[in-house]
Amino acid sequence: MINVALPKGRLGERAYEAFASAGYDCPAILEKNRRLTFENREKGVRYFWVKPSDVSIYVERGAADVGVAGRDILLEYEPDVYELLDLGIGRCRMCVAGPENFYDAPGRTLRVATKFPHITAEHYTAKSRDIDIIKLNGSIELAPILGLSDVIVDIVETGKTLLENHLAPLETIVDISAWLISSRVSYQFKHQEIAAMQAALARKL
Ligand code: PRP
Repeated sequence: MINVALPKGRLGERAYEAFASAGYDCPAILEKNRRLTFENREKGVRYFWVKPSDVSIYVERGAADVGVAGRDILLEYEPDVYELLDLGIGRCRMCVAGPENFYDAPGRTLRVATKFPHITAEHYTAKSRDIDIIKLNGSIELAPILGLSDVIVDIVETGKTLLENHLAPLETIVDISAWLISSRVSYQFKHQEIAAMQAALARKL
């Protein structure tokens, strides 16, 4: 049995479709209920729904053999896992965004609100830019509107959230998509099953 951690939400649903079309379907997962685990013994697969930022924790510790995690999570937490396959879903980009006419006055500490303090620190360290990171957990776009920060570092998918809040992308830090990741231990002990799953998913890309 391969244990698969899927991120709750739209990305996880798209990821499940990819697994199902690769031969790892588990119809019970589509029933609208609050269960968190679903298995299809015949196909040798068990799915769990976890918070997107927790997928890599389950996989790193081997509680899940494989999982689906965005590049944003992998860059932010740098989990000790194998990155097996770019699934090509959940495409978006990590951006610096701010007021449309934002001018970054040199010499002044830049206040940056984000859910991704590590990615943010690395980005500005590479430019030797002094910043003050304000770690938030959601609705990041509010920070510059209320004067809590000058800019934000956040995920931009369609750009609609920025536009509707009179903000604009100022710089792209990195392109993001969802990856199939594997526990290092599971990859050794369930090598055949995981490699077969990886190959089946790759054939459907
Ligand atoms: C993400 C991100 C942006 C939004 C971008 O938020 O943080 O707010 O999606 O998408 P768009 O470019 O298509 O508008 P999420 O929905 O994860 O919620 P959050 O505000 O709690 O981070």
